[in-house]
Amino acid sequence: MEQLSQVLSVALNEMKLIASIHDLEQLKSRYVGKQGLITAFMQKLKDLAHEERKAFGAQVNQVKTEFETALVVQRDAILAQELNNKLANESIDVSLPGRGCGTGSLHPVTLALNRVVKIFAQLGFAVADGPEIENDYYNFKALNIPDNHPARAMQDTFYTEAGNVLRTHTSPIQVRYAETRTPPIKIVAPGRVYRVDMDATHSPMFHQMELLWIENGISFANLKAIIIEFMRKFFEDDSLQVRFRASFFPFTEPSAEIDIFFSKTGKWLEVGGCGMVHPKVLNYMNISSNEYTGFAFGFGIDRLAMLKYGITDLRLMFENDLDFLTQFKGL
Ligand code: FA5
Ligand code: MG
Repeated sequence: MEQLSQVLSVALNEMKLIASIHDLEQLKSRYVGKQGLITAFMQKLKDLAHEERKAFGAQVNQVKTEFETALVVQRDAILAQELNNKLANESIDVSLPGRGCGTGSLHPVTLALNRVVKIFAQLGFAVADGPEIENDYYNFKALNIPDNHPARAMQDTFYTEAGNVLRTHTSPIQVRYAETRTPPIKIVAPGRVYRVDMDATHSPMFHQMELLWIENGISFANLKAIIIEFMRKFFEDDSLQVRFRASFFPFTEPSAEIDIFFSKTGKWLEVGGCGMVHPKVLNYMNISSNEYTGFAFGFGIDRLAMLKYGITDLRLMFENDLDFLTQFKGL
């Protein structure tokens, strides 16, 4: 019996030092397993005399119960400690920077448009707007393009079933704005325009901006000065070459097309058209062509964005490809 209580006290001391469930399981089988040290005392029972057997058996059982109770207590202590360790190690460090949700960026056309509007605002131009579904009168007739006039074929037009058009340029805004106002008139009018057109430098939907300045004594010299000043500001290049090529538009006389020299490719690229507002158009605007002169200028914003940001294919602008679009972050 003395041996038995010695074995128990050794077992309990060992148990106190155990810190893992695995070691505890091993200790358990070493004492109360099939060949365990406490189990061995059970096997001694059969060698004892009948009268000793009862008391000894009760003693062995009690030791076994004590051992197993201590085992449960120790197991709970180990599990609690493991949980505490886990909580300490896996706690959230609220001072760490967050995972971050990506912010969007402005589309290159929007970036270019914002730049353009800012430059013209500095030059004293107000911003005007007009509808994208336009009627024949404003898109053509009031711009001196009558029915069956060959100039209608200059722009391949989308027609609606009701006989309206998706505006083919921003020029109709000139008449819409000016017909109810008296000079001086000094506006820019940006917006989407539509044409049956599709290749690397043409898109069926694109953006134009219209410029209109009507005032006493406005001449082609003012037109040239404003356009050159604008192009050089937009491209941040004081020696940018701008070329005026004589051309034809029904709503301006004389007319010119404007090219800029793109030094990266060594090529001239057409960015817009311009001219002195035609007397017939002034008439549609209810403005006296004896008293006033003015100039108009219309250009492609997408083309300017392509040149500014080195984009070689216009179609990239409208494909919503994030790899392309995210390159303009922070501009
Ligand atoms: C016009 O649209 C005239 N309304 C411009 C104008 C305004 C002339 C005022 C005189 C006075 P044009 O069709 O050339 O002109 O177009 C002007 C510019 O729009 C072009 O130089 C080009 O930069 C751009 N553009 C034309 N078609 C497309 C297209 N399909 N995709 C992208 N840009 C285009
Ligand atoms: Mg043209």
